[in-house]
Amino acid sequence: KKRIAFLASGRGSNFQAVIDAIAAGTIPGICVGLVTDNPGAYAIERAKSAGIPVTVVDYARFPAKAAYEEALLSAMRACRADLFVLAGYMRILGFGIVREFSGRMMNIHPALLPAFSGLHAQRQAIEYGVKVAGCTVHLVDEGMDTGPIVVQRCVPVLPDDDETTLADRILAEEHEALPLAVKLFCEGRLEADGRRVRVR
Ligand code: GAR
Repeated sequence: KKRIAFLASGRGSNFQAVIDAIAAGTIPGICVGLVTDNPGAYAIERAKSAGIPVTVVDYARFPAKAAYEEALLSAMRACRADLFVLAGYMRILGFGIVREFSGRMMNIHPALLPAFSGLHAQRQAIEYGVKVAGCTVHLVDEGMDTGPIVVQRCVPVLPDDDETTLADRILAEEHEALPLAVKLFCEGRLEADGRRVRVR
């Protein structure tokens, strides 16, 4: 079984979706830890309920980003994970961390990349006026939301949508897309060929 660890900054509903799929036996993995930059993250409660070890690397307590990243990297290494899942981690990871976990770190983003990378993707979609939105699970590379795409799911944007209603519709798809991507990884079925990820 693959050792799966998570980085999350907030609510943790995607984290929950994956640990539920692990508990249900859908994903051949074990959850070995949650690392968070936010001591107030609700994801911490979820981890505790599931008996998953939590490491808080409180961003606010570090004088500079470099010191934070160093502590974050040690916490991540300590998980000895085969796969690191970014489930609502709201900061940009430094090159050192990205390099070390290259090919075994995934992120979920609430947009159909390469459209609407960065923060407030759902708001960006509403403001742009697109008629289709969705979510993307991708491998993490040095760019922001630019890595090879593993799974995408789409939803319609309805005429009366606002940021919240669209985000809720996308979130329901995220909760399927992320466990699926993690499952495929853990089953050894992902084959990266440059930008293109094939599923065997
Ligand atoms: C999710 O919508 C996720 O796609 C998004 O934050 C939310 C976290 O929700 N991530 C990003 O925007 C990354 N830039 P959750 O904490 O309930 O999983």
